[in-house]
Amino acid sequence: IFEKNTIITIFGASGDLAKKKTFPALFGLFREGYLDKSTKIIGYARSQLTIDDLKTRIKQYLKKPNGTQDDEKEEEFFKMLSYVSGPYDTDEGFDTLNALVQTFESDAKVEIPHRLFYLALPPNVFLDVAQQIKKCVYSEEGITRIIVEKPFGHDLESSRNLQNSLSPLFKEEELFRIDHYLGKELVKNIIQMRFSNTLLNASWNKENLQSIQISFKEAFGTEGRGGYFDSIGIIRDVMQNHLLQILTLLTMDTPRSFDSEAVRDEKVKILKAIKPLNRNDIVIGQYGQSEDGTNSAYLDDPTVQANSKCVTYAAIAFNIDNEEWRDVPIIMRAGKSLNDSKVEIRLQYKSVENGVFKDIPNNELVIRVQPNPSVYMKFNAKTPGLSNATQITDLNLTYSSRYQNFWIPEAYEALIRDALLGDHSNFVRDDELDVSWKLFTPLLHYLEGPDAPQPEIYPYGSRGPKSLREYLVRHKCFDQLDHPYTWPITRPE
Ligand code: BG6
Repeated sequence: IFEKNTIITIFGASGDLAKKKTFPALFGLFREGYLDKSTKIIGYARSQLTIDDLKTRIKQYLKKPNGTQDDEKEEEFFKMLSYVSGPYDTDEGFDTLNALVQTFESDAKVEIPHRLFYLALPPNVFLDVAQQIKKCVYSEEGITRIIVEKPFGHDLESSRNLQNSLSPLFKEEELFRIDHYLGKELVKNIIQMRFSNTLLNASWNKENLQSIQISFKEAFGTEGRGGYFDSIGIIRDVMQNHLLQILTLLTMDTPRSFDSEAVRDEKVKILKAIKPLNRNDIVIGQYGQSEDGTNSAYLDDPTVQANSKCVTYAAIAFNIDNEEWRDVPIIMRAGKSLNDSKVEIRLQYKSVENGVFKDIPNNELVIRVQPNPSVYMKFNAKTPGLSNATQITDLNLTYSSRYQNFWIPEAYEALIRDALLGDHSNFVRDDELDVSWKLFTPLLHYLEGPDAPQPEIYPYGSRGPKSLREYLVRHKCFDQLDHPYTWPITRPE
């Protein structure tokens, strides 16, 4: 299942993403037997590093085989690594890289070269590197694949410009736009859960659902990344990409196959059916100092612009204009510096309308993407014992207990493997990206323009802006505060 003598080059090898995600993902694949030891991994960056410097940087992020201190795999992996230092915009460096690639391929008597380039780079050098790859190390007779990381532009226009510059260089099938949420196990499972269960499929629509919430919470702020985040904001950072992908998977039609084009055709179709976002129907916030004063406000970060209106929390309502979803509110919310770190999908069912059960709690299907991946359905059942009263409980699939002996890959592991196999299903297609920018750009321009509203300040470590509660109620989302329920359920005292 794996190809031999593949060459994987990581640009931006000295950066944070490469260190924390890309190299560890390659190691994970190798450790689990999904990357052959004949693979060559080349780090490329401007920094003058020795190969030992590179190893020292990434070592602490490599996960050993489960519960062991086994260094053997790590040693083997390190043997596959090389490093080239060079500029991003001239042939110098790329020629060295090419020589290394050529020597390796001729020594290994490679007939059909397989080269994967991973661009873990900031946007300002992205295009230079793409051009240099095409000029100096592209394989005419073999397979060349390019993995690119967000941001794919800053808005519709810049995304189109970027695309117009890339498309003469690489074919769409050579490009793999990564959205790492598409590699998360529970995000990948949405399609299977929806379409392989009659029970869920039959109730996954406007007749039965009252609302859908997709929520992303992080208990930390932009510490150290404020300068970067200030021109990005939470909407661009996680909503236009990660959470929109989740929304798409939750609402798209059954694809006719698992073929990547079939899946992505359905995604584009549903994205086009989303009504323009209503700028007056949002909640926006920015975190202030924590109530106990220990964590500072967003604006206290010296790298952030004074009086910045950067949005660190947003709730946005989506409406899909088609027969299945018309009038079902879909609320996407995301924030930094909240009380918890959690990514969850909540499908809230309508209540029982009449009869003896009309006042009991609603069903709710929760897909917890992280932490502790699980799927549970809040479910009414008879209180055990002599009572006939109903009590809310849950049907619960918690991965850590149900799938104890499974290897569940990290998002980047799963996606890099897909790219190595040439499978695009979990990567973003050009037209899909275009529709997503079309949807978000007017709102982003409004929030960053001269009439930008002032975000509501919420304390670091809180549940978010105060007006959120009323917003959720207005959109038919019931809140945990209205239905106190802890999961997993504990036996009453
Ligand atoms: C990244 C964002 O794309 O996703 C970060 O830039 C965010 O701001 C991260 O923290 C969240 O990813 P994960 O996998 O930790 O949920």
